[in-house]
Amino acid sequence: MNLPASSAKATDNDPGDMFKVAANLAIKVAIVSAVVIGLIVVLAGMAVPASSSHGDVSDKAVAARIQKVGALVLGDAAGSGPRSGEDLFKGRCAACHAAGLMGAPKLADKAAWGPRIATGYAALLNAALKGKNAMPAQGGADYSDVEVGRALVYLANASGASFVEPKLDAARSATAPVAKTSKP
Ligand code: HEC
Repeated sequence: MNLPASSAKATDNDPGDMFKVAANLAIKVAIVSAVVIGLIVVLAGMAVPASSSHGDVSDKAVAARIQKVGALVLGDAAGSGPRSGEDLFKGRCAACHAAGLMGAPKLADKAAWGPRIATGYAALLNAALKGKNAMPAQGGADYSDVEVGRALVYLANASGASFVEPKLDAARSATAPVAKTSKP
């Protein structure tokens, strides 16, 4: 007598429990897959910029990355008055000319600079302003022509030349709008 009653009870309850279990399972699966998809999106976001910046080794990209470091140095130097040839060199040119990056003639490497210095200041300035092979125009810097000249004189003089540095006043009038009004 008891058996049919209890089995009837069981069959009454089972479909309801099954529903609850199924609903619970569906919710859990939804949450887990949302988390997994979220993780994939985050990881993909992290991976994409890293791989693209590693892949980009063009001169421009290298120069752009170097420039950020130089720009900070220049910002400090600019705040404390006109920049010396050495400051200008360190702010930009040193990126290549300190270590000889991309075949750049190194600072103080007299053997490398000798034949170049022999071509004269005007020719070197022209190359520095307009660029030459892997050397970008103006060294890729946001310098006035006179500032490039001052950086060049620092570089060349440290490497065996005895060029006369272009005047600071000229550098100022070339960069500062206020000074321009006093120009003839
Ligand atoms: C991105 C790297 C890079 C930067 C930055 C750079 N140079 Fe150069 N520079 C070179 C390379 C490479 C050469 C060799 C070019 C050649 O002769 O093929 C060179 C050559 C030169 C020369 C010799 C040109 C000649 O006619 O022989 C001068 C002068 C010079 N650089 C000045 C500068 C000055 C000044 C700056 C900063 C304002 C500067 N460079 C910044 C890469 C650079």
